[in-house]
Amino acid sequence: MVKICCIGAGYVGGPTMAVIALKCPKIEVVVVDISVSRITAWNSEQLPIYEPGLDDVVKECRGRNLFFSTDVEKHVAEADIVFVSVNTPTKTTGLGAGKAADLTYWESAARMIADVSKSDKIVVEKSTVPVKTAEAIEKILTHNSKGINYQILSNPEFLAEGTAIQDLFHPDRVLIGGRETPAGLKAVQALKDVYAQWVPDERILTTNLWSAELSKLAANAFLAQRISSVNAMSALCEATGADVTQVAYAVGKDSRIGQKFLNASVGFGGSCFQKDILNLVYICECNGLPEVAEYWKQVIKVNDYQKNRFVNRVVASMFNTVSNKKIAVLGFAFKKDTGDTRETPAIDVCKGLLGDKARLSIYDPQVTEDQIQRDLTMNKFDWDHPIHLQPTSPTTVKQVSVVWDAYEATKDAHAVCILTEWDEFKKLDYKRIFDNMQKPAFVFDGRNIVNADELRQIGFIVYSIGKPL
Ligand code: NAD
Ligand code: UGA
Repeated sequence: MVKICCIGAGYVGGPTMAVIALKCPKIEVVVVDISVSRITAWNSEQLPIYEPGLDDVVKECRGRNLFFSTDVEKHVAEADIVFVSVNTPTKTTGLGAGKAADLTYWESAARMIADVSKSDKIVVEKSTVPVKTAEAIEKILTHNSKGINYQILSNPEFLAEGTAIQDLFHPDRVLIGGRETPAGLKAVQALKDVYAQWVPDERILTTNLWSAELSKLAANAFLAQRISSVNAMSALCEATGADVTQVAYAVGKDSRIGQKFLNASVGFGGSCFQKDILNLVYICECNGLPEVAEYWKQVIKVNDYQKNRFVNRVVASMFNTVSNKKIAVLGFAFKKDTGDTRETPAIDVCKGLLGDKARLSIYDPQVTEDQIQRDLTMNKFDWDHPIHLQPTSPTTVKQVSVVWDAYEATKDAHAVCILTEWDEFKKLDYKRIFDNMQKPAFVFDGRNIVNADELRQIGFIVYSIGKPL
């Protein structure tokens, strides 16, 4: 029986390994983590992350061929294939601070593998890492090798949160990069055999190591670039009377461009787009390519611009002040169907409104008060350092209340800001909300999910992204 161990039981390690265990009943999969609370949660009824479909997959395999453990060293030592799926956040201090990837967690995992291994291993980079990381890992592993043969593979993950299980069941592609040596090719084949249990052959791509590492950064940069492109257009739409939904539809109908990922929004969030582009920018700069670096930097600048623009629109519409006005914030997660708030645009929007002295009443179906308070008090770039590694914040933002109901959040409010596209926000009784609000009652739809015309009929003043007022 092949044994797989995955270091890192987070948003990637947990779901990915659960699906491998489900699809490959003959493989034993153990997911390990230094976080006791995370592993305890993975072994409980209340999984540490909210992801549609995940519970069922875990229930089917846990205890059969899927295990979660804090005994990191034991399971790494026993494994044939070790996935490393630890967090690779943006560095906060030192060389490359604010841009480069912080590989501290990665390096400590690699050193641990070198320390405990007693047999040959395939080590798989699952985390998103800078190009050439495999070379560094090889150095660490072979330096302490004790005669053990390691093959490093790059197998970046392309799942999106909220649809992780479906993405893993039916991936557009699985990418495996390895050394083009006989031993390297053999390792690539071994990992290919795992995915081949459920992924069609033509969807499993094999490349050299550096192409695989770079393809991951490039894919995220291209995806984020589409959002910044449509968001940049949304500003022009508002200035000209065009409607960004119509423009995006017309543009996307060109089969070379395609319809997906062209939804204008308050800005993209999530733990990866910004971090991976910053990482790409840093790599370009280090390779003496300032023009290329500058090009990709614009994607983030437009995203920041979009979030600022939203805040400015709220304040300007409400007679240039939101001081002491109650504003209901519907949605705090960075997208629907997840409780993840890492780099959510809601953080910047809320901070912007608080800067103008607004009182916020926030409701998100999956995000706790603790998490929201932590997000609003912590420093930029601390978001991708796992919760358990952050000191618990003693401070709370007094002008913020977190409630468990959209009607409660909007009661007596002057305005509603929709910041996450949760389906339930489409179905709210907006007449009831309007009746319980201060007048004039504003709706600022940062996700373009409500029917603005219907809301205007009720009496709201409505702002949608990239649409005529
Ligand atoms: P995460 O923070 O949710 O999980 C990482 C886990 O690794 C944490 O639980 C942490 O405790 C653990 N860890 C850190 N160092 C460890 C060590 N030395 N030994 C054992 N455990 C250790 O992160 P994530 O969202 O799962 O992302 C992981 C990687 O995957 C990142 O590089 C990210 O860029 C990439 N990625 C993420 C997504 C996503 O949707 N979140 C998608 C594709 C790729
Ligand atoms: C993204 C990529 O889609 C995954 O392929 C990748 O594996 C992952 O990053 C990663 O490397 O972490 P994720 O961040 O989970 O996945 O979610 P997305 O669906 O990509 O959404 C990212 C952000 O963009 C969200 O805030 C979302 O609301 C926003 N978005 C997305 C838009 O504003 N408009 C769109 O048209 C699409």
